[in-house]
Amino acid sequence: MIPEHRFKDFLRDIRRKVQRRTRFPGVGHINLGSLDRVTPVSGNWGFDRGQPVDRYYIENFLDRSRDHIAGRVLEVADNAYTCRFGKQAVTRSDILHDAPGHPRATVVADLSAPETAPTNEFDCIICTQTLQLIYDISPALQSLHKMLKPGGTLLLTVPGITAISREDMNRHGDFWRFTSASIERALQDTFGADGVVVKAFGNVYAATAFLHGLAVEELDRNKLDFLDPDYEVLLAATARKRAR
Ligand SMILES: C[S@@+](CC[C@H](N)C(=O)[O-])C[C@H]1O[C@@H](n2cnc3c(N)ncnc32)[C@H](O)[C@@H]1O
Repeated sequence: MIPEHRFKDFLRDIRRKVQRRTRFPGVGHINLGSLDRVTPVSGNWGFDRGQPVDRYYIENFLDRSRDHIAGRVLEVADNAYTCRFGKQAVTRSDILHDAPGHPRATVVADLSAPETAPTNEFDCIICTQTLQLIYDISPALQSLHKMLKPGGTLLLTVPGITAISREDMNRHGDFWRFTSASIERALQDTFGADGVVVKAFGNVYAATAFLHGLAVEELDRNKLDFLDPDYEVLLAATARKRAR
């Protein structure tokens, strides 16, 4: 009599052998073409070829979130997205930097230190691709929450599957990659369970293209728009501060 665990192993081995012979494309018949290399096609996210894949998703999210980009709007590092997606609905545009000295900064606050952040000032905060550079994300989310007026909205994006940003790694540290589960839970801890909506973008085609720095102009947008929840390239979130 064969013990049960040996029988299960035997069945698993048979199943794998059959799978290997019937898979398409067959083992040894994959054509990696231009991607058969150990360094990326672009080491610059694809900016040297066109629009990077993560920017396509970020801009798609902000375009759909235009209604929130109104009144007093704060953006991290620059105000390109405020100007592009907010337009006339923005009454005042502010730019946050973590250290004094930047000529365009109108707010100087270190997101990892909530005591340096102003209170109840903004109707909307656009915080794109920043949280992964801050080791302690909980105080950073508290800072963003603190700066919003009651009823104000945070528009946040964070990376999922992505390369390390060497420039940011050398300057601040590049600490985190997120999943929809981790960013949703972190936001809910600060903003409360209601009022947080997380959307994921990506699939294996988008992830591979993004890791190689291929640009949207050379990719199929229909394929980029397909979501495979096991291959999240970018997470975008809307979080509303409770109105008093
Ligand atoms: C990759 S940029 C992202 C923002 C930019 N608007 C964008 O979409 O590309 C990251 C910015 O986060 C800023 N940053 C990093 N750590 C910070 C902190 N603790 N407080 C405030 N800003 C921080 C950096 O100075 C940098 O300007």
